[in-house]
Amino acid sequence: MVHQTVQIIRSEHTALAAMLRSIPMLLAEHRRTKTLPDFAALRAMLFYVDEFPEKRHHHKESELLFPKIRAKASPEQRELLDKLDQDHHRGELRIRELEHALLAFEVMGESRRATFEQAVDHYVAFYLAHMGLEEREVLPLAERVLSERDWEELDEAFGANRDQLAGAEPEAEYVALFSRIVRLVPAPIGLGQAART
Ligand SMILES: [Fe+2]
Ligand SMILES: [Fe+2]
Repeated sequence: MVHQTVQIIRSEHTALAAMLRSIPMLLAEHRRTKTLPDFAALRAMLFYVDEFPEKRHHHKESELLFPKIRAKASPEQRELLDKLDQDHHRGELRIRELEHALLAFEVMGESRRATFEQAVDHYVAFYLAHMGLEEREVLPLAERVLSERDWEELDEAFGANRDQLAGAEPEAEYVALFSRIVRLVPAPIGLGQAART
C-alpha cells in the first residue's frame, strides 16, 4: 500500500523537478538563438523553486517525516537524514545566490550569462541529487521502519490539515503559480507562445 505521505512527497518532487529541468532548457534555447530570456518568467521560476520547498516541502520532511524515521534508524541512516536536513538549510542560501546571479545577468547583460547558466546547472544538479536520495533511500527506509500508527499520524498531518499545519500559503496558490509559469515559458518547454528566432 502506498501511503498518502509518500505520494505527496513524490508528486511534489515531480513538480519541482519539472520546474528545475525547464530552467536550463530555457537558457540553452536562448543561448542557441542568441537572445535574452524573459527575465520575468525566470524570476517567477526561481521564486517558485525558492518558496515552495521552503514553505511547504522541506517543512514536511524535516519536521514531520525525518524525526519519525530518525527515532528508528541506525547511526548510518541518521547521518543520511542529517545530510538531507543540512541540504534543506543550505538550499536557502544557494537560491539567494542564484537570484543574485539572475539579477546580475538582467542588469549587466551578456557578460553575466555564462555565470548564471553555470549557477543554474549547479543548483539543479544539487537539488535533483537531493530528491533522488530521498526517493531512493529515505522513502523505502520509511516504508521499512515506520509503523501503521506512524503512517496514520503522518498521513493526517500531510493531508487535510496541512495548510494550517505548515503555516504556509494554501496549496492552491502554488498550483496556480505553477500553471502561470508554464504559460509564461515558451513552447516546447512551456505552453506559452514559441519564442521567435
Ligand atoms: Fe528534501
Ligand atoms: Fe524532498
